[in-house]
Amino acid sequence: MDIVIIGSGNVAAVLGRKFRAAGHKIVQVLSRNAKAASELAYEWDTESTNYKSTINKQADVYIIAVSDDAIPEVAEDLKLPGKVVAHTAAAVSKEALKNITAHYGVFYPLQSLRAGMTSLPDIPIYVDGSDEEAKTKLSALARSISPEQVAVAGPEDRMKLHVAAVLVSNFTNHLYKLAADYCQQEGLDFRQLLPLIEETALRLKEISPKEAQTGPAIRHDRETIQKHLELLNAYPQLKEVYLLLTHSIQQGN
Ligand SMILES: NC(=O)c1ccc[n+]([C@@H]2O[C@H](COP(=O)([O-])OP(=O)(O)OC[C@H]3O[C@@H](n4cnc5c(N)ncnc54)[C@H](OP(=O)(O)O)[C@@H]3O)[C@@H](O)[C@H]2O)c1
Repeated sequence: MDIVIIGSGNVAAVLGRKFRAAGHKIVQVLSRNAKAASELAYEWDTESTNYKSTINKQADVYIIAVSDDAIPEVAEDLKLPGKVVAHTAAAVSKEALKNITAHYGVFYPLQSLRAGMTSLPDIPIYVDGSDEEAKTKLSALARSISPEQVAVAGPEDRMKLHVAAVLVSNFTNHLYKLAADYCQQEGLDFRQLLPLIEETALRLKEISPKEAQTGPAIRHDRETIQKHLELLNAYPQLKEVYLLLTHSIQQGN
């Protein structure tokens, strides 16, 4: 397919690379960020623009990969009759695109994407469409980059998935950040924890999170928890998170 990518951030960069690796052609990158757009266009041997008025009108699919709140602004005044147009946000209604074309939808990648990632990850894709044309084309595009992990998901399912994704990815990463700060303060090397992080994530391929839970909270090792809390007196924010999660583990099992 011929594709126009709108946006030049993390999702634009990674989806564009995936599309190209699957044999599609990126015919244009449109972004308000002229520098980032021209860098992606150079990488993909295509053209870039930062004016909606010069958008390429010959593509098969238009992927809008901009911040959630910017989608209505980007959609404003954009007219692509007959074309399939989708945004990549879990939490934004597809109706935000209804004035662009009759064939609009969502192309939500359930993965944490960063422009700087060195290899292209597997990306489950959840699509939605205003009509059969949008659903069929977006599903075909999704299957071309993710043959086994494509599903249709309406707004409610997408939102529910998004909440779960925030828990397992964004919140977990925040805990890594807190631990990294703590390690730095205490003169420890955070990288010592990488085998533990890897094992904790990978075991979920075989057993449930409930079965996988270990540690002082689930064992109700009160004295150990008390010693940890004393150590954390110097880190009030961390202590609060530690207590909250300890209670959550003890209540939830
Ligand atoms: N990253 C992920 O892991 C992920 C996963 C699934 C879905 N998504 C969804 O994908 C979309 C893009 O996310 P992202 O991570 O790629 O974001 P990002 O890296 O922050 O990039 C956002 C892009 O939107 C542009 N933008 C922001 N405000 C704008 C405005 N008012 N008008 C025009 N362009 C504007 C930015 O341009 P500037 O560079 O000029 O700011 C940039 O090109 C979001 O809807 C997000 O929910 C993200």
